[in-house]
Amino acid sequence: MVVERVKSGVPGLDKMLEGGYPKNAVVLVSGGPGTGKTTFALQYIYYGAKHNEPGVYVTFEQEADELKHIATRFGMDFDKLEREGKVNVIRVKNIVDIGDVIKEIKRAVKKIKAKRLVIDSISSIEIFATTFRSMIREIPAEILEAKYTITPPTDAIIRRLMYRIIDFFKGLGVTTLLIAEARDSTHSRYGVAEFVTDGLIRLDYEVLGKELARSLLVVKMRQTKIDGGQHAIDFTKNGIEIID
Ligand SMILES: Nc1ncnc2c1ncn2[C@@H]1O[C@H](COP(=O)(O)OP(=O)(O)OP(=O)(O)O)[C@@H](O)[C@H]1O
Ligand SMILES: [Mg+2]
Repeated sequence: MVVERVKSGVPGLDKMLEGGYPKNAVVLVSGGPGTGKTTFALQYIYYGAKHNEPGVYVTFEQEADELKHIATRFGMDFDKLEREGKVNVIRVKNIVDIGDVIKEIKRAVKKIKAKRLVIDSISSIEIFATTFRSMIREIPAEILEAKYTITPPTDAIIRRLMYRIIDFFKGLGVTTLLIAEARDSTHSRYGVAEFVTDGLIRLDYEVLGKELARSLLVVKMRQTKIDGGQHAIDFTKNGIEIID
């Protein structure tokens, strides 16, 4: 069966992925602070908007204007695309129930018939896992140690949450990038998300004297023969590119 591909918008990356992300996949983009996760995801939404695949960008960390400003620096005019109904930037804050956030994402996707979705970042959703009331009702009391409180959720709760939201995104018919804040030894806050997503891309940098050597590694991509190994990346006037 031929797998339909969704282009990443990052020059040089698609050819490492048999042409792009598998359609409808959920891909984790993991990296430490300042590794370029947001820029990478903005390029994904921008490329789609320019090629008849509208996209929703959900930001938990930054104001929509700040995000659009980052995009502008790389020649991507998100305000214009938003006016044309090709992009929808949603800023989420003051989370009470993750269920409400999910409903808001669904509305935004339907509104512009989005084909692409970015969650920046999934770490912000994971932290609030125990506020997901509709999910918590299904969790046996012995597993749920912290009902409705903002104490750190257990692995079992995070795994369940991830399965639920991955199913939900797939059901919306979008191809999704989940941005994750990497820790030293894991690719996401709790070290669970990377196992349940279809793909995993890791952004990193190394300090070389007065330079930063930035890199990208495709750790996994289901249904895809990947071009493994660490590839050098750099910021250009259009955003991130694979240079080697
Ligand atoms: N043209 C450029 N050349 C080199 N570095 C740049 C350029 N533009 C931005 N950067 C650097 O890239 C980083 C910001 O990229 P971005 O916001 O995409 O990263 P991030 O991984 O999302 O960061 P955060 O962890 O804060 O969310 C900053 O450290 C910034 O200094
Ligand atoms: Mg960011």
